[in-house]
Amino acid sequence: MNINDLNVETLKRLRDAFLSGNAGDSDYWRSIEDLESYDQTFAQRIAWKWRHVFSDLRKQNWLPPETPCLDWGCGTGIATREFLREFGVQSRFPIRLYDRSASAMNFAEQKLRDDAPNAIIQQLSESDLHRLESIGVLLLSHILTELESLENIIELASRATAVVWVDAGTYECSRKLIAVREHLRDQFHVVAPCVHNAPCGMLDDSNKAHWCHHFAESPAEVFTERAWSKFGSVMGIDLRQLPLSYLVLDRRPNVAFTENATRVIGRARVYKAHAELLCCNCTGVSEKRLTKRALPEAFRQLKKGAFETLQNFATKDGEITDVL
Ligand SMILES: C[S@@+](CC[C@H](N)C(=O)[O-])C[C@H]1O[C@@H](n2cnc3c(N)ncnc32)[C@H](O)[C@@H]1O
Repeated sequence: MNINDLNVETLKRLRDAFLSGNAGDSDYWRSIEDLESYDQTFAQRIAWKWRHVFSDLRKQNWLPPETPCLDWGCGTGIATREFLREFGVQSRFPIRLYDRSASAMNFAEQKLRDDAPNAIIQQLSESDLHRLESIGVLLLSHILTELESLENIIELASRATAVVWVDAGTYECSRKLIAVREHLRDQFHVVAPCVHNAPCGMLDDSNKAHWCHHFAESPAEVFTERAWSKFGSVMGIDLRQLPLSYLVLDRRPNVAFTENATRVIGRARVYKAHAELLCCNCTGVSEKRLTKRALPEAFRQLKKGAFETLQNFATKDGEITDVL
């Protein structure tokens, strides 16, 4: 990335639109330059979040079904590019793009053609969307703050074989994703981040203050390239933090989780001799304590920040007694 080639005013305008909560009101892509500047910056950060989710899914041996895919609200198409980068192009099936902005769809299509010249790429209109009987894999990325309601997307998702949704790691976005999950969990197997298909434990009154979020890893270039540090300071963004919320649903049966399967949510709070972890398992969401004395290796990994979010924990009275 060369920050000198980017239009800082454009990026600030886009950032202000995203933060205002009004970005859904009207099309904010004014030019190719807007899309190019976004694609080299904000979209790269989004790409790192997708890589985190794909890495989680790989650990669960999840592979997408062999079907078409649809990137709804595609913007510059970063979600699809990351999807193809991870799982390859299925040349028999079309890759479909939909956005209210024709320039965004054109931009996304061009980028995809550069990456995957043999792919079948289709831009869809709103009426095409209504006519599609089977969506295949529905990719959704950073659209929650721009949706007027969740209804249309839930209806669309209910025609999909699988849904992979990555969004901002804020309280509001996480809570909306949970609402989507609750609407769809009877029709799908919940693949991730949940380790069960039961009602979401975050909906319990005792968890009102929490939200389901995770952190992606920033690549080394964020710390070494001047352009990124300039981007971070001009935009007021802490590039070390990449919070995200996500949801993966699939109609195909899942590899069953064990009853000890636990998803660790957010960041563990690590103290001198113990850590507090917000844990989700089939019995709900609650804080668990892990001590250095009982589990020295796990504690060391936690301190290093190298702790997988998917774990198998044995617990007793709120304490993690074993990492299985
Ligand atoms: C923040 S951008 C995210 C773009 C892309 N998905 C990504 O992750 O980089 C949101 C996108 O949703 C599109 N969008 C917002 N509301 C929409 C609507 N009602 N119908 C279709 N597209 C919409 C915008 O035009 C924009 O391209």
